[in-house]
Amino acid sequence: MMTDDLTVPRTLRAVGIAGSLRAGSYNQLLLDNVIRLSPDELEIEPFTRLAEIPPFNEDDARQGGPAVVVELRDAVRAADALIIATPEYNYGVPGVLKNALDWISIPPGNSGLEGKVVALMGASPSILGTARAQSQLRQSFVFTQSHVVNHPEVFVTKAHTRFENGTLTDPGATKLIGQLLNNTVKLVRTLRSADGNAPVPGAVR
Ligand SMILES: Cc1cc2nc3c(=O)[nH]c(=O)nc-3n(C[C@H](O)[C@H](O)[C@H](O)COP(=O)(O)O)c2cc1C
Repeated sequence: MMTDDLTVPRTLRAVGIAGSLRAGSYNQLLLDNVIRLSPDELEIEPFTRLAEIPPFNEDDARQGGPAVVVELRDAVRAADALIIATPEYNYGVPGVLKNALDWISIPPGNSGLEGKVVALMGASPSILGTARAQSQLRQSFVFTQSHVVNHPEVFVTKAHTRFENGTLTDPGATKLIGQLLNNTVKLVRTLRSADGNAPVPGAVR
């Protein structure tokens, strides 16, 4: 149920980003599964134009940036939460993902990330399943004054063995995703009620 009356429980909305441009990306598959697993009270809209975002330029960003960046920033600002499925490259956050986050983190006063509830997860063929990339993202979200959901951490390890015909087959990961989504909904609602039922800071309604 969508309503402008914030005293009435409504469906929450999230933007989902998979930080990979690879055809057959495990993180894209992960996000697809997360969308299917999300509870009725949380609608997740995937952002599909990551490949179109140009290299970050602070001068341009302070003017708002190109249309695709404006679209992403506006979508994240209007959403209750941001859900990220990240790969890990060379022990770090993929450049394309960090690039997009840098673009939407400014201009000051119009950040897409300030006050935003963020849920992190990631998939990798390794046994650490993007732990280091997710740790780096958590650090970045301190500076952007976002609210990262602390628990549980979702690391899809040995990702090449976890999907069958696009479906996540690992019951452990599936359970953790369910918990993470529930905790995301709870954190959004807690932050709103702590502010007298006001919109989550940064959100446009
Ligand atoms: C340049 C490069 C660096 C990588 N570094 C890491 C790494 O540090 N940790 C890791 O777990 N996997 C690493 N990998 C493997 C990726 O996790 C793997 O390619 C994964 O499938 C990428 O995510 P995607 O499937 O969503 O595209 C690396 C792959 C490449 C191409």
